[in-house]
Amino acid sequence: MAVITLNPERSRGTISKNIYGHFSEHLGRCIYQGVYVGENSAIPQVRGIRTDVVEALKKIHLPVLRWPGGCFADEYHWRDGIGPKESRKRMVNTNWGGVVEDNSFGTHEFLDLCEQVGCEPYFSANVGSGTVREMAEWIEYTNSDGDSSVVRERRANGREDAWGVKYWGIGNESWGCGGNMRAEYYADVYRRYQTFCRTYGKNKPFRIASGSSGLDYHWTEVLMREAAPMMDGISVHYYTVCGDTWEKKGSATDFTEEEYYKTLHKAAYIDEVISQHDAIMTRYDPEKRVGLIVDEWGTWFDVEPGTNPGFLYQQNTMRDALVAAVSLNIFNRHCDRVTMANIAQLVNVLQSVILTEGEKMVLTPTWHVFDLYQAHQDAKEIDCFVGTGSIGPEKWAVERISASASSREGRYTVTAANLDADQPEEIRITGVRASRAEARVLSGEMHAKNDFEQEMLTTKPLPVTVEENGDLTLTLPACAVAEIRFS
Ligand code: AHR
Repeated sequence: MAVITLNPERSRGTISKNIYGHFSEHLGRCIYQGVYVGENSAIPQVRGIRTDVVEALKKIHLPVLRWPGGCFADEYHWRDGIGPKESRKRMVNTNWGGVVEDNSFGTHEFLDLCEQVGCEPYFSANVGSGTVREMAEWIEYTNSDGDSSVVRERRANGREDAWGVKYWGIGNESWGCGGNMRAEYYADVYRRYQTFCRTYGKNKPFRIASGSSGLDYHWTEVLMREAAPMMDGISVHYYTVCGDTWEKKGSATDFTEEEYYKTLHKAAYIDEVISQHDAIMTRYDPEKRVGLIVDEWGTWFDVEPGTNPGFLYQQNTMRDALVAAVSLNIFNRHCDRVTMANIAQLVNVLQSVILTEGEKMVLTPTWHVFDLYQAHQDAKEIDCFVGTGSIGPEKWAVERISASASSREGRYTVTAANLDADQPEEIRITGVRASRAEARVLSGEMHAKNDFEQEMLTTKPLPVTVEENGDLTLTLPACAVAEIRFS
């Protein structure tokens, strides 16, 4: 039996709802076909934006969406994507598959998507091949209501009032596809660009510095040392890759039990990565004012056979659901430093919550994890100690049970995952005297997936017993993720 002990007296603070954020790039079929099908499509849409996708994102209360990249962001010139569609500039998407980008989905369309979903936009500005002026005018275009030429241009394009875009990334992966800069050089570039992130009225930009590749602690050290007072957040990217090289990342659907544990072991390592970055940041920012923004995370496997290698299309199984559950529990437990996270990517790319094929749409197991974890959004994190053994081959051993907990207005939520691929686990939750409880679970064989023919994985009620002493007991099936709510 695993015992989850809650201590409501101890909390790291509020779990920002933005931890449940997503990332959408002009990559493969994420934006085009996944989100945007155009105003003339027979697929149900509003101003070209798929209604089925919007509804699915509303159900999980998507709080914040990052766009337009990724690597694409540092080659994106926002003026190419405004004004009459027939005269928008065409470009070749050199990062992703060499396809033609007609810019029919630009600033207005993305902000329309965010308004339809009810989420905050997070823009990633072009530093690698753009200019300070270009970024500054993008902020003015979206956030100002002054009578400037830029604002007149927006109004001529059909938008009277400023949208008020809060989150601004200053470049993406500036150590790599965003310009191959050294930390020391980028720190100065960052200082310069952030100077021109002007506040218009109440619209004060939240400035996010382009962060480390995950294990590059030097990058965070230099950025914090040189620019901490000038930033609100610094990002970090961490992908879970099962294979040992980028050439062979492993199949999304065809894997052994050892590879299952290896993937979960690597996913759980993000705890160490966050702790290390947090320790560095705390030396320069002991108040924890600067957020660590995990704005790209998730699994990265080989593309599905026969698909464009530049489109990064992969299926999604219960293994992905477990990766999401473990990662989100870790983010919750680091909520005093991690204030936003954006899984890569929204639709049809990497660890998506949604897959589409023509007019068909399917919710992946990962979508169901975001559904199960919703109650944590903006709730108070509470300390949760998990007494459990480990499972898996010695080299890839993982904690059998992963959990996190929060409370809001006297109601508690524990999310718990059983990483054991084969055996169910008895769970006791103690530390809070419960009088009533309910639970939901997503479970299945580790390779189980939803596809366009059959959506077999969905959440189901899970029996939970309130014991005489107010403890809760339940049985978590093998390879499962659950939400337990009680008061
Ligand atoms: O998400 C795919 C790519 O991964 C992004 O474009 C880039 O930022 C990262 O390397």
